[in-house]
Amino acid sequence: MKVLIVGSGGRENAIAWKAAQNPKVEKIYCAPGNAGIASYAQCVDIGAMEFEKLAAFAKDNNIDLTIIGMDDPLVGGIVDVFEREGLRVFGPRKNAAILEGSKAFSKDLMKKYHIPTAAYENFDDPKAALEYLKTAKFPIVLKADGLALGKGVLICNTLEEACAGVKTIMEDKQFGAAGNRMVIEEFMTGREVSVLSFVDGKTIRTMTSAQDHKRAKDGDEGLNTGGMGTFSPSPFYTKEVDDFCQKYIYQPTVDAMAAEGRPFVGIIFFGLMLTQDGPKVLEYNARFGDPEAQVVLPRMKTDMIEIMEACIDGRLSDYELEFEDNAAVCVVLASDGYPVSYEKGCEIRGLENFRGKDGYYAFHAGTAFRDGKIVTNGGRVLGVTATGKTLKEARANAYKATEWVEFDNKYMRHDIGKAIDEAE
Ligand code: AMP
Ligand code: GLY
Repeated sequence: MKVLIVGSGGRENAIAWKAAQNPKVEKIYCAPGNAGIASYAQCVDIGAMEFEKLAAFAKDNNIDLTIIGMDDPLVGGIVDVFEREGLRVFGPRKNAAILEGSKAFSKDLMKKYHIPTAAYENFDDPKAALEYLKTAKFPIVLKADGLALGKGVLICNTLEEACAGVKTIMEDKQFGAAGNRMVIEEFMTGREVSVLSFVDGKTIRTMTSAQDHKRAKDGDEGLNTGGMGTFSPSPFYTKEVDDFCQKYIYQPTVDAMAAEGRPFVGIIFFGLMLTQDGPKVLEYNARFGDPEAQVVLPRMKTDMIEIMEACIDGRLSDYELEFEDNAAVCVVLASDGYPVSYEKGCEIRGLENFRGKDGYYAFHAGTAFRDGKIVTNGGRVLGVTATGKTLKEARANAYKATEWVEFDNKYMRHDIGKAIDEAE
């Protein structure tokens, strides 16, 4: 079986690593890939948004299954292009990927189907938004409707901040067309948890829980990033929370999408907040999280390719997912200055230290080959991941492994998994 993976980050490295474990998989390609993915896959120089070229490549190379890792191509309709060409592809069609692509859509869906989420209003017009804010309670949350690299969410403490936020999103268009519409929603407090799931249009099977650290600096200070580290499972995701979410959030979301004529096939990532009034949905994503995939997939016992095929064929109800009874922690090694500006092209030394060490992974995010060496090529460079019997052991192992690699301007947070201590 030949597999093509579309994407180039740490998430796609974890997907490639997991795909390689299926005995039927004889060859993996990744477009465009990176220097770490190259250990499992042949990297192909086609961009993730070049749908026609990707589909032609898949046809010419008799690809049996294409896995879309990233949000942009999914929201842009890559799955529809592949299906039109008769190609097998794992991911939601454009009309279902809107679950991530439009926050206004997802909020309206939750309201219509009584799925717990923060109270909100949608706005197309900045004047109406400003009028609404005059009577609102603070803090309040402003969200650009479309994809904004995880940066389109502003938490505003005062009316002045919120008015400036409306200008940033809707008038200055700091997040581009993503800001043509906006959601204004109630500010919630509580623990955040991410739950990823496989969905076949009707049936949903959730994976183990995880938690991300989105801010750049220790103590959750600094700018929002794609994610500076993760751990799995979340000690706050109890059996009771899971029971509630299965009944009132997960299956109802899948049923709602089917009822709207937008059956969802692929990964739904539930961003949840565990509030005093119970779990509520913060956001949906239509793909694996990055770096959530880096802690969830190493703990998954079930074969990923088999499950993806079952999703495409609508046979997911025949399967249960199994996870190791252990824990995993991922610490992102970034280039100092991320997410604003940073140097690229610095040599990465010490990657060989990971070779042959069970339970330790250096998933590559922003890396490239140059003159026979592996160099930094992005803000997030590596996702150093380790497993352990407990979260504390996994965390100690992951931080130990961060010392095995060196590059100029290496930067990391030192408090990934701090919540582990707070759970005691
Ligand atoms: P999102 O991209 O919607 O997940 O938002 C990014 C981050 O903003 C979340 O991970 C939360 O930390 C925060 N956030 C989003 N919505 C809310 C809300 N309604 N109340 C409090 N914090 C929020
Ligand atoms: N780590 C958050 C995300 O992938 O959206």
